[in-house]
Amino acid sequence: MGNNSQQNKSQSASRTDYCGQLEASDVGREVVLKGWVQRVRDLGSLVFIDLRDRTGLVQLVARNSQPELLDEAKKLRCEYVVEARGLVNRREPAAINRQMATGEIEVEISGLKVLNSSAVPPFVIADPPQAAEELRLKYRYLDLRRPSMQKNLILRHQAALATRNYLNQQGFLEIETPFLTKSTPEGARDYLVPSRLHPGKFYALPQSPQLFKQILMIAGFDRYFQIVRCFRDEDLRADRQPEFTQIDIEMSFIEREDIYHLIEGLMEKLFALNGEKISRPFSRLTYAEAMDHYGTDKPDLRDSIAIEDLSELGRNLNSELIKSALDSGGVLRGLLVEGGAELSRSHLDRLQEKAKSLGAPGLIWVKRSEGSFKSSLKLAEDELRLLTEKLQARDGDLALLIASPRETAIKVLGELRSNFIAEKIKTGKINKNSRAFGWITDFPLFEWSEEEKRIVSMHHPFTSPDPTDLDHLESEPLRVKSLAYDLVLNGYEVGGGSIRIHQPELQSRIFKVLGLSPEQARQKFGFFLEALTYGAPPHGGIALGFDRLVMLLCNLDSIREVIPFPKTTSALCLMTDSPSEVDEKQLAELGIKLCK
Ligand code: AMO
Repeated sequence: MGNNSQQNKSQSASRTDYCGQLEASDVGREVVLKGWVQRVRDLGSLVFIDLRDRTGLVQLVARNSQPELLDEAKKLRCEYVVEARGLVNRREPAAINRQMATGEIEVEISGLKVLNSSAVPPFVIADPPQAAEELRLKYRYLDLRRPSMQKNLILRHQAALATRNYLNQQGFLEIETPFLTKSTPEGARDYLVPSRLHPGKFYALPQSPQLFKQILMIAGFDRYFQIVRCFRDEDLRADRQPEFTQIDIEMSFIEREDIYHLIEGLMEKLFALNGEKISRPFSRLTYAEAMDHYGTDKPDLRDSIAIEDLSELGRNLNSELIKSALDSGGVLRGLLVEGGAELSRSHLDRLQEKAKSLGAPGLIWVKRSEGSFKSSLKLAEDELRLLTEKLQARDGDLALLIASPRETAIKVLGELRSNFIAEKIKTGKINKNSRAFGWITDFPLFEWSEEEKRIVSMHHPFTSPDPTDLDHLESEPLRVKSLAYDLVLNGYEVGGGSIRIHQPELQSRIFKVLGLSPEQARQKFGFFLEALTYGAPPHGGIALGFDRLVMLLCNLDSIREVIPFPKTTSALCLMTDSPSEVDEKQLAELGIKLCK
């Protein structure tokens, strides 16, 4: 090692500066730079080279006053790795490039060494990317050379560091938990790892360290955190990856308020990395309010427009359609679309189609313009006025109404609301970079799974029921609320957690309601039930989706842009070509036979 580095030293000069950090105050200095060739412009008697490292670009210049050097420079190609020595000069006024951070200066080279050549890259390495995402992922190392990707990953690093510093200051300890473990249900499928030493048995990669962090509370660590990889085999979307990172947190002897306070402080620190000041305290909504007003438990709170309940009013309207929906237990809900009166008939037809495709029986629209009304439903002028007034529609506005079962009405109007918000962002009516945080609280403890035809936990089975609902835990489980909370930001769920169950009896009651026999509960969670019997402190916690947070910090729409080596939406790594087949021998060692 010592010998090698000495050898390297004799061959190469040490770097004095990073390319992107040179500035006018460096004029007159002799520098040694190392980096990649972004671009070569050969003007015959003069060659300009843009040299790139992780800090940015600087222009090198070779002149015919040094013919050998000029010849060397002419041979450079994109992505060659070079060492350049030279003098920092101020550019002629006409040559100053205001688009470039180092555009006031250039480096007149006096020495040039090619440290490595490069094959011709399959795409131009520049922002915005011009290649399809598949190609970028296959050659991820080239894609990662783009300044924006470097910036994203640098911000990711800073966010992780700020998180560690903040939590350390708050008395938290970073403690690692195993990756080869027993499955903990979080609603997704597990990634399984076969055991060679115990054929027929499997580890599961953790969907989260949930049980371990609770056990660390039982072990007396009081305040735990971990920036940790989690693994979930679920259908992927732009904000989901099969392996992703959480800021995982657990605390003993606390209430929900302690978590809200802690996390709001963390968000303040993280967004300060962007120079942003976020407003605190975050708004709070119960799950029931979020669903009623926005049709989703992750509402985008950048827009104050909410779904309104018009059922009372609907009862007195002279409409068979509305009456029959209400008589069969349904609702009449409405959404205001500011400035929507100008939407064309075909646009309204498209909205109708969209609503139907989402399950609504239809979509009623009412336009208010110049004091008069137009509607898809035949109603008296007074009735239309009442309806639109309830939605606080002004001249030029549009009201969209759905008369249907409650779930359908709120879901469809919630989707339409999201589409209108996206439109407002596109047209600049809502600032894309504004932040609207919110806590969603009082989630139901359970929900009905149509797929599994049974009751399942809405968060996970270790969530504490609201103590005031304990008397009907068994008789009316779907009415039981929990001490769970989610953190939402601009329509994304960025975190979720709860106060936990710390009494073994209550934990066993929950397993029973979930349909686990005492035997099954012991088999799956016996170790945990036992741990709860040894003086478990009251505790609670939260996990934040780190990738989603960094994505939002970077104002991006896909977490793949902030993960160095992400998978595609079909869970493939295009760079390494995984998952891949393995040798028969490897399978045999694991006692596995493929049935295909
Ligand atoms: P939960 O399942 O809500 O809670 O996960 C916490 C947060 O992790 C992020 N997240 C994801 N990010 C990217 N890709 C995914 N596939 C993915 N799945 C989840 C989300 C989410 O809010 N153990 C509990 C936490 C607790 O109770 O303390 C848990 O994991 O931003």
